[in-house]
Amino acid sequence: MPSVTVVRRLTFNAAHRVHNPALDDLENARLFGKCNNPNWHGHNYVLEVSVTGDIESRTGYVLDLARLKEIVNREVIDKVDHRNLNLDVDFMRDVIPTTENLAVGIWRILAPALAPARLTLIRLWESENNRVEYSGG
Ligand code: NI
Repeated sequence: MPSVTVVRRLTFNAAHRVHNPALDDLENARLFGKCNNPNWHGHNYVLEVSVTGDIESRTGYVLDLARLKEIVNREVIDKVDHRNLNLDVDFMRDVIPTTENLAVGIWRILAPALAPARLTLIRLWESENNRVEYSGG
C-alpha cells in the first residue's frame, strides 16, 4: 500500500506577548522587540496538520479530511481562536508563547487525539513570511 500524506489547513487569530518573566524588562525588550509590547498584539495564524498513512482500500482515503478538520477544530482551534495565548490557553501556561512553543503544544494535543492515524508534521505560520515546523521529538 502506498504511504501518502494528507494535509488540512486551518486558520485562527490570537493575541500574545512574547515575554520571559525570568528576565528583566530591558532584556525582554532587547530579545523580543515589538513582540514584547506590554499591551499585547495579534497574529493571523495558519496551521497545517499533516497525517501520513496507507490508503484504505475501502474508502481510498488515508483519513477523511472532514474528520481531521473536526478533530483539529475541537482540540485546538476552539481553544486558541480569538484568545490571548498568555492568559486564556491552558496548554500554553508556563511557556513563552512563541510560534515554536505553540507548534509543540499543538503537536502534544493532536498526536494522541488523531491516533491511530499518524501525525507527521505541524506547520504553523505566524505571518506570511515566518513559519515553524515540528515533527515530534
Ligand atoms: Ni508576536
